[in-house]
Amino acid sequence: MIWSTIATWEFSLQGVSAAADMLLKGGRALDAVEEAAIYTENDPSVNTVGYGGIPNIEGEIELDAAIMDGYDLSIGAVAAVKGYKNPICIAHKVLTETPHNILVGRGAEEFAAKMGFEKTILLTEEVSKIWHKKKEDLKAGKNSIIGHDTIGIVALDSKANMASGTSTSGSGLKYKGRVGDSPLVGSGFYVDNSVGGATATGLGEDIMKCCTCFYAVELMRQGYHPKEAAEIAVKRTHTRIYEKTGKVGNMALVCADNKGNFGGAANHKGFTYAAASYKCKPEIYEVEP
Ligand code: GLY
Repeated sequence: MIWSTIATWEFSLQGVSAAADMLLKGGRALDAVEEAAIYTENDPSVNTVGYGGIPNIEGEIELDAAIMDGYDLSIGAVAAVKGYKNPICIAHKVLTETPHNILVGRGAEEFAAKMGFEKTILLTEEVSKIWHKKKEDLKAGKNSIIGHDTIGIVALDSKANMASGTSTSGSGLKYKGRVGDSPLVGSGFYVDNSVGGATATGLGEDIMKCCTCFYAVELMRQGYHPKEAAEIAVKRTHTRIYEKTGKVGNMALVCADNKGNFGGAANHKGFTYAAASYKCKPEIYEVEP
């Protein structure tokens, strides 16, 4: 029985372990992706996803999330959603309960309420302090960049179905209404059962310019191993942006194919991911840029 799951950053380890348990018992890739994201969304110590995420410039936490089914390429995504702890679950409902792919802002929130999700206060005391300090830094012209460490997940289940998903509070102190790569298909995530899936973390403004995840999946279609596909896609996006603008943000990708192989790549030091498969228990991997 072949299965696998991979997710960005070591903070995803608990979620990856839970997803691995589901997949081992024959659970669906889509459900495993949702489960993995929920763990991180609920964790207040992760300041870039869900509850405890960093607010926008006006002090509001706006969340983006998406989920994609590699069986029929169906998508559910939400962007700039306020007051709900688990945007991945709302995104999943967009996929299953609507004829649309993406809902944003108030429309997404009204849809969430209709689907029975409960409103929650997402701001923690600790994050409020960080936000005030970062706002002071911004006023003083100091570096105030924070955030955009998305949880992105890809899963392969024992019926050879694949799914991918993302969840993030985006970049801290972002403009109200700013949307990153995470809810945008092909940019922050992509998956196709016939090949594999990819998902991204990092500066959304750069990642989306090269449709980085779609490109990585197409590289796997050409025969590249997931690790090579991640490396080539990150390098290409990095190079294209740098040669045009002279600067480029941090970015990283994780990829998995439909045979149980996986890998990751980053254009910066310190990127980690968690993964598990029919061949290996849940573990954290560090990527060399
Ligand atoms: N990658 C997350 C973001 O930029 O919003």
